[in-house]
Amino acid sequence: MTGGFIEVDQLLKKYRDGVLVGPISLSSPRGVIYGLVGPNGSGKTTTIRCMLGLQKPSKGHVRVAGLDPASESKKLMQITGYSQELPSFPPFLTAKDILTTTGKLKGLSGEELRREVSKALDISGLVSHAGRRVGSFSKGMLQRLAVAQAIIGDPEILILDEPMLGVDPAARVQMREIFMELKRAGKTILFSSHELYELERLADMVGMMYQGRVMVEGWVKELLSQDAGGLKVEAEVLRPSLITPQLIQSLKGVQDFQMNGTILRVRFAEGLDGRETLAATLVKSGAGLVRLQTVNRTLEDLFMEVVMKGVKP
Ligand SMILES: Nc1ncnc2c1ncn2[C@@H]1O[C@H](COP(=O)(O)OP(=O)(O)OP(=O)(O)O)[C@@H](O)[C@H]1O
Ligand SMILES: [Mg+2]
Repeated sequence: MTGGFIEVDQLLKKYRDGVLVGPISLSSPRGVIYGLVGPNGSGKTTTIRCMLGLQKPSKGHVRVAGLDPASESKKLMQITGYSQELPSFPPFLTAKDILTTTGKLKGLSGEELRREVSKALDISGLVSHAGRRVGSFSKGMLQRLAVAQAIIGDPEILILDEPMLGVDPAARVQMREIFMELKRAGKTILFSSHELYELERLADMVGMMYQGRVMVEGWVKELLSQDAGGLKVEAEVLRPSLITPQLIQSLKGVQDFQMNGTILRVRFAEGLDGRETLAATLVKSGAGLVRLQTVNRTLEDLFMEVVMKGVKP
C-alpha cells in the first residue's frame, strides 16, 4: 500500500461462475478527480463496488479514507456519495421522494434535509421535475437523479459509476461544472466513463483498465505531455509520391509513421526530437514541405495504444 486516499492494492475478485477479475491496483490522492476508463467487462464496476463494500474482494486490499470498505462500510457510507451504473428507482416515487429518503438514510432531518434536497435538485437541474414520478424519466434524467442522490449530505468522497452515460451534451457540460465545483470545495471524486474526451477535460488522474488490470495510471497532464510516448509530428507535403518508406525509416528515432494522401504522420522515440531532420529530409527529397506541426497526444491515442497492444507502455 502506498497510502493514497483511495487505495486498491492487488484486488482480486473471483465470481461464483469462476470469472476472475484482477489483480487491480490503483491509488488516488485526496481532492482530485480520478477517472477510470476501460472496455466493457474490464473491471470498473467490480473495482467500484469493492471500494464501497458492496462486494468483498476475494484477495487484496482496498482502503478509502483509511477505512476498509468490507468491514467499515457503514462509516464509509457516511462520508461517501455513490451513484450506480444504470440506476434504477421505484417508478412510482417522485424525484423529491427519492432524494428525501436518501437524505434521511444519510441521517439528515428537518430544515437541513429540505435544504440538501433542494440543493441536489438544483445542482442536478431537476428542479422542474421534482414532483414527477421517476417512471416517466428519460435515461439522462435518471442519471442526473443518481448524481443528485450521491451529492446529498455534502459527502467528502464521490464514487460514481458512469455518471455521464446517456446524458445529453448540455447536461454533460453542467455535470462537468458540478464536478469542478465539488473539487474546488475539496471533495475527492472517482468516476468511471467511456468518454475519453470528457475524461481528458475533467480528470486530474486517470486509470486505464484492460482485462481486469490497470494498465496505465497517472496524471492526465503528464500522460499527455508532448514527450510522453514519443513526439508525434504531422507534415503536409506537395508531392507524396516522392516519399518512400525507406526514406522515413532511415531517419533517426522514427518509431512508426503513416502516409495518408498528402499528410505524413511520424512518431519519434521517447526523448528524441527529430523535427528538424524530418523537415530537411522532406525538402531535400523534393516532396515539398507545406507545413509541419506537433500533434498533441490524446487519451484516446493512449487508450488505443494500451488496448490494442494489451501491454503496459
Ligand atoms: N455478478 C457477476 N457474476 C459473474 N461475473 C461478473 C459479475 N459481475 C461482473 N462480472 C464479470 O467481471 C468482469 C468485469 O465486469 P465489470 O462489470 O466489473 O466491468 P466494467 O468495466 O464495469 O464493464 P462495463 O464497461 O460494461 O460496465 C466481466 O467479465 C464480467 O462478466
Ligand atoms: Mg461497469
